[in-house]
Amino acid sequence: MYRTKTCGELRAADIEQTVTLAGWVQKTRKMGGMAFVDIRDRYGITQLVFNQEVDAPLCEKANKLGREFVIQVTGVVKERSNKNTHIPTGEIELIVSELNILNVAATPPFTIEDETDGGDDLRMKYRYLDLRRNIVRSNLELRHRMTIEVRSYLDKQGFMEVETPVLISSTPEGARDFVVPSRMNPGQFYALPQSPQTFKQLLMVSGFDRYFQIVKCFRDEDLRADRQPEFTQIDCEMSFVEQEDVLQVFEGMSKHLFKSILGTEIKDAFPRMTWHEAMKLYGSDKPDTRFGMQFVELADVLKDRGFSVFDNAAYIGGICAEGAAVYTRKQLDALTDFVKRPQIGAKGLVYARVEEDGTVKSSVDKFYTQEALQQLKAAFSAKPGDLILILSGDDVMKTRKQLNELRLEMGSQLGLRDKNKFSCLWVVDFPLFEWSEEDGRFYAMHHPFTSPKPEDIYLLDSDPGAVRANAYDMVINGVEVGGGSIRIHDSALQNKMFSFLGFTEEQAQARFGFLMNAFKYGAPPHGGLAYGLDRWVSLFAGLDSIRDCIAFPKNNSGRDVMIDAPSPIDQSQLDELNLSIRSAAK
Ligand code: AMO
Repeated sequence: MYRTKTCGELRAADIEQTVTLAGWVQKTRKMGGMAFVDIRDRYGITQLVFNQEVDAPLCEKANKLGREFVIQVTGVVKERSNKNTHIPTGEIELIVSELNILNVAATPPFTIEDETDGGDDLRMKYRYLDLRRNIVRSNLELRHRMTIEVRSYLDKQGFMEVETPVLISSTPEGARDFVVPSRMNPGQFYALPQSPQTFKQLLMVSGFDRYFQIVKCFRDEDLRADRQPEFTQIDCEMSFVEQEDVLQVFEGMSKHLFKSILGTEIKDAFPRMTWHEAMKLYGSDKPDTRFGMQFVELADVLKDRGFSVFDNAAYIGGICAEGAAVYTRKQLDALTDFVKRPQIGAKGLVYARVEEDGTVKSSVDKFYTQEALQQLKAAFSAKPGDLILILSGDDVMKTRKQLNELRLEMGSQLGLRDKNKFSCLWVVDFPLFEWSEEDGRFYAMHHPFTSPKPEDIYLLDSDPGAVRANAYDMVINGVEVGGGSIRIHDSALQNKMFSFLGFTEEQAQARFGFLMNAFKYGAPPHGGLAYGLDRWVSLFAGLDSIRDCIAFPKNNSGRDVMIDAPSPIDQSQLDELNLSIRSAAK
C-alpha cells in the first residue's frame, strides 16, 4: 500500500498511530537539529518531522527534498506542541521513521500556494501544476459535487441521461460552428454541436419524455469572462408540458442546488419578470436584482425646458444611487469617462445631487429651475444624500443598455453586488424575433424551434416584432444561468417559422428536414431548458470568470496554451482530408 491515510485526514484521535502518507513536498524548513516538511495531497497538508538526533541520515535526506518532490513517509502521529489552528491537521504532526522519494521534481515555474507568484499565462501553460493549488482544486471539487446533485435530483424526477453525438451538422444557436473535415467524405464537414437542441427534440419524438445530459457544447464566438468556446450544459427536455411545468421542475432543481451545495434554503418562488419589464427597468434581459436602482424614465420631467440634448432625445432615463451625493467632482468625471468609453458609447452624463437641505444641484442647473429639479427628485423619491445619474440618447434600446452599464458600475462601486448574496429571477415572455439592423431582417431571438405564444400567433404576419415567445431565462445575480422554451411541435407552424426566418423550402429541408420528417410521426408537445454548468459553478464559487472552474480552459483568444492548440496540421493530413490552406494565417 502506498498510503494508509491521506494528508488531510489525521486528527488528535490518531495520536500514537503508525501511518504511511504519500504526496508532494509543499515546503521544507530546517530548525536546529530538526527538519520540518509539509506534505500535500488533494485532501490537505500534514507536517512531517525529522530529528537529527534520532536519525541523522534520514534528516539529511529530508533536508535535501525539493519543492514538489513526490514522497512516501511512514511514522508515528504525535501531538504538536505548536498547534496550527488554520488547518484541520494542525493539532498533529508525523514523526517520520521512513522516507521514500517516489519521484524528484524540477523547480516549479510558480509557487504552488493560494497566493501564487505565477501570472495568468504561466499558470495556464502549466495548468496541471495550477490545479494542485487549493483554490483551483476546490472549484473543481465544487463542480463535481454540483454535477452529482444535478444527476441525483433529475434522476429522482424521472429524467434519463442520454448521450447525443458530437460529430453532427450545424445547430441553430446563433454562434459560428466549429467544423471537422471528414476524411471518408472528401470536401464535407461535420459541425460540433452548439447544443444538443435538435437531438433532444428527436428524443421527445422517440418517447423519452424526460431527458437530460451533462454535455459539452461548442461555439465559435467572441470570448468573455462568462464564455468559453467549449463549455458544459445541463441540457434538459420534457414532453407533455407547458411553460409552467418546466419552470416548476427547474426552479426545484435550482433550489435543490442552493440547499445541497450552499446550505441555503430558498422558500419563496423565484420572482418573474417579463422581458419588456426587464428592459424598461434595468436595460438588460439579465438584470442583477441584488440591488434596486431601477430606471426611471424622465422625458416628462426633463423635456422641453430648453436643454437641447434632452429635448432632442428619444429616451431620457436615470438611476438614483442612495447616499452617493458624497461623490466628488473627480469621481463624477470618472463616471462620465466610464459611460463615454467606446464599449459603452454614451455621449455624456448628467448628474443631480440632493443636498442635505433637500435642494437639488445638478450639472445642468442653468436649464432647470429648482422647481423642475424638485420634480426630478420626486420622480425617484430621492432623499438628501442621494445622487441621480441621467443618460439620454436617440436610440431607446441603446441608451437603456448604456444606463444598465452605469447601474452595474454604481452597484459595484457602492458594494451592492455581494458575491455571497444571491438573487434569482425568471425572465419570461421574450420576443420571438430580433430585428437585425445590419442584415435588414428578423432572426429568432432564442432559436427557430421556439413556439410563439398562442395568443400572439395572429401577429406573425402583421407585426412580427410584437410576437412573444414561450421562452424563459433563469438569471442569478445578473448572470444568465439557463434558458429554454416550449417548442413548436406542429410541422406546419415550424415550416412557417423557417420561411419567416428567410429559409427557402429547400434550405429548411436540407438543414432541418430530419426534424420536420420526425414531426410527421407523432411529436408530443414538448419544451425544455439548458443550464450553463460553468456559470452555475462560478457563481457558487464567487469567481469572476468561468475559466477558473474548468480544468483545462482556453484563453481569451480561444487557445489552449498548454497543449498549444489550435495548431497547423501536416501536409499529409491535409492531403488525406482533401484540404489545402489558402494562405498562412496571420
Ligand atoms: P442557450 O444558447 O441560451 O440555449 O444556452 C443555454 C445556457 O448555456 C450557457 N452558455 C454558455 N456558457 C459558457 N460559455 C458559452 N459560450 C455559453 N453559451 C451559452 C448559458 C446559457 O443560458 N438549446 C438551447 C436551450 C434550450 O432551448 O433548451 C440553448 O443552448 O448559461
